Amino acid sequence: MIKVVTKNPEETVELGIKLGEILKEPIVILLDGSLAAGKTTFTKGLAKGLGIKQIVNSPSYTIMKHYPNDNLDLYHLDLYRLDGLGEDFDLEEYLYDAVVVIEWPFQVEELLPKEHLLIKINKTGDNTREFTFIPKGDKYKGVLKCLD
Ligand SMILES: Nc1ncnc2c1ncn2[C@@H]1O[C@H](COP(=O)(O)OP(=O)(O)O)[C@@H](O)[C@H]1O
Ligand SMILES: [Mg+2]
Repeated sequence: MIKVVTKNPEETVELGIKLGEILKEPIVILLDGSLAAGKTTFTKGLAKGLGIKQIVNSPSYTIMKHYPNDNLDLYHLDLYRLDGLGEDFDLEEYLYDAVVVIEWPFQVEELLPKEHLLIKINKTGDNTREFTFIPKGDKYKGVLKCLD
């Protein structure tokens, strides 16, 4: 487990870039934090770090956005509004050959893979955020080295 504090949105983007730059294999990242915690801001950086040129915006109204990429593709999911959507939502489709980032993941707790990187984000002030990185499964422990 690693904790990192950011003092403004730019530092959160930088943190995302750092992680994105070292990812070489598919990974599921769960972003757990309240509204405006910085989940989407972090994902913008992550996409940049992966080499994606498109601007990442909140996928709230579409649930999922796909960003094709030479390196690893990114699937960015926001499940905040999943409740009203019926049952034809199949998480499995995206999970295993890309970087999959899920905002509000616990809407589908039973569908989540056991191995994932959980990132908890706490708002500790107007502009400060505390990130806690918790790898679930051995596979993901190595990715945290870039944050030391
Ligand atoms: N340290 C910080 N990291 C990230 N966002 C911050 C930070 N400080 C202030 N903010 C603001 O908080 C908001 C975060 O929004 P967003 O990333 O969309 O959150 P979420 O996706 O968690 O709802 C933005 O308005 C951003 O400017
Ligand atoms: Mg968001």
